[in-house]
Amino acid sequence: MLSFQSCIRCFQKYDLNQIIYRCECGGLIEIKHSVFPSPLGGEGLGVRSGVWRFKDYVLPIPDSEIVSHPEGFTRVYERESLSRWAGVDKLLFKHEGENPTGSFKDRGMTVAVTQAKRLGQKLIGCASTGNTSASLASYGAQAGLKTVIFLPEGKVAPSKIAQAIAYGAETRMIEGDFDTAMAKVLEASHDEGLYLVNSINPFRLEGQKTIMWELFEQLDWQVPDWIVVPGGNLGNTSAFGKAILEAYEAGWITKKPRIAVIQAERANPFYQSFLSGFEDFAPMHPDTRASAINIGNPVNFEKAKRVISDLNGRVEQATDAEIKEAKIQIDHSGIGCEPSSAATLAGLQKLVAQKFVRPDEVVACVLTGNVLKDPVMS
Ligand code: F0G
Repeated sequence: MLSFQSCIRCFQKYDLNQIIYRCECGGLIEIKHSVFPSPLGGEGLGVRSGVWRFKDYVLPIPDSEIVSHPEGFTRVYERESLSRWAGVDKLLFKHEGENPTGSFKDRGMTVAVTQAKRLGQKLIGCASTGNTSASLASYGAQAGLKTVIFLPEGKVAPSKIAQAIAYGAETRMIEGDFDTAMAKVLEASHDEGLYLVNSINPFRLEGQKTIMWELFEQLDWQVPDWIVVPGGNLGNTSAFGKAILEAYEAGWITKKPRIAVIQAERANPFYQSFLSGFEDFAPMHPDTRASAINIGNPVNFEKAKRVISDLNGRVEQATDAEIKEAKIQIDHSGIGCEPSSAATLAGLQKLVAQKFVRPDEVVACVLTGNVLKDPVMS
């Protein structure tokens, strides 16, 4: 097989079909593809799924093994009111809330659940602030696999829980925050043989890469100057960085966009670490109303740190009040999104004011979740 798994720290190689979330040395695992000719496949599922059309650079397997809704092919929006509000001439929004279960998670979940099924796994699980669990429950149902979700009690938007239950997931409410639930599901992956589909699973990130490739294609491969993304567990940050570098190395794009990761001020361990030049990293007890990114110990820290240095990126933070104000702007423009997604616009406005982003630079914000996901932010 031309694709394999590899440790990002010691470069130890593992077979694509081995179940491994961390290397023996402790490093995170990523997928490597040794062939990268042209961007698009276009047959069979490739025509219908915005993820599997890039199959050769995501997970090169026969279509018959794939579990797909399908997903992807999300729209790009531009609104003059929002560009003006942020202070840039050209501002784009790629709306990942338009995926089948209402968030970007479907892009990664189609790949992770496909991998679970082809490896003969019987039980799949995740910890979640809501969207991952809804997506897993849905794709698990499609694959006919048993799903179990670990949720921090009282900290997940009710509509997301209702969604996961509707699709048939077994729900375990955990006392504590997302990070406690993450520790519990990791334990269960060892003790109960549960296949873990949080973004520590490298197959998730392979699917999420296609957000970038699809965006670039929509822009005729003329990449923006900046990509802005909310940061929680830092899966998207890691996936986007990988997608950008792979596209550049394959010659699909001739320029690498910079990346800006926005965290909520009360769940900002990555921002704090960025301020120290990534010398220090301290997990924290998170407490933001942007519930999807209420995470204090992001599992993808090591990958995301590398992305910031590879792409000359920045990390910014926004208060809950700033996120709420940005959400009102996006909602009133008619686009709409969930609070965590609006952190992008809030952070961008600050980066422009601080002159890190110039008004003549082209910026693309990734809206991660649908407006119905977490409708009340008080
Ligand atoms: N935006 C939304 C709507 C999310 O649901 C998440 C993560 C993020 C942003 C942060 O993305 O983790 O890649 O940095 N939600 C996860 C969940 C944690 O369980 O649904 P990240």
